[in-house]
Amino acid sequence: MTRFRLGVCAAIAAISMAAAAAQDAQKTERGEQILNGACNTSCHDLRPIDTQALDEPGWTKDVKSMIEKGAEVTADDVPVLVAYLVKQHGPLPDGPGKDILLNICTRCHDLQRVRRERTSAEGWLEILDAMLNEGAPLSEQDLPVLLRYLARNFGPQ
Ligand code: HEC
Repeated sequence: MTRFRLGVCAAIAAISMAAAAAQDAQKTERGEQILNGACNTSCHDLRPIDTQALDEPGWTKDVKSMIEKGAEVTADDVPVLVAYLVKQHGPLPDGPGKDILLNICTRCHDLQRVRRERTSAEGWLEILDAMLNEGAPLSEQDLPVLLRYLARNFGPQ
């Protein structure tokens, strides 16, 4: 009987964890839908969003200013959209190299790829080399600046 109860508890815990994950995924999906509906428009594509890294007040201000300019986001959708933007395009540490990262490294994929990576300067140099091979337009002057920025802020944990 005890073993059975334990089994049930574990199952319930697993189900509630799965439900929380599903809810989180649902919220992300909803945020993405709002973004694609209201921001990927005839006014601009998603590029102005990909090249920014803002905190919650920053994105709230941006979204409000877009609504003033005519973006169609309902009041209920604003916090969902802002939470999504902070999650996907949250703030980055300041410093030389940040602008290069935002402008060059967002052309083929979003910055989640970069944010997930944690490696040494040697590791980053290898990645940057690979990106140059993919065709990243990273100049000779920008490479060492970006490399220092990545090694300093996205080093091994
Ligand atoms: C010309 C397109 C392009 C640009 C610009 C670009 N990347 Fe990539 N990046 C790729 C491709 C394609 C992959 C996937 C490679 C793979 O999965 O083998 C990738 C994968 C990555 C990864 C994951 C590494 C891995 O081993 O999977 C990181 C980190 C990364 N890029 C960082 C950057 C940084 C930093 C910049 C800015 C200098 C950048 N990328 C610019 C095309 C690009």
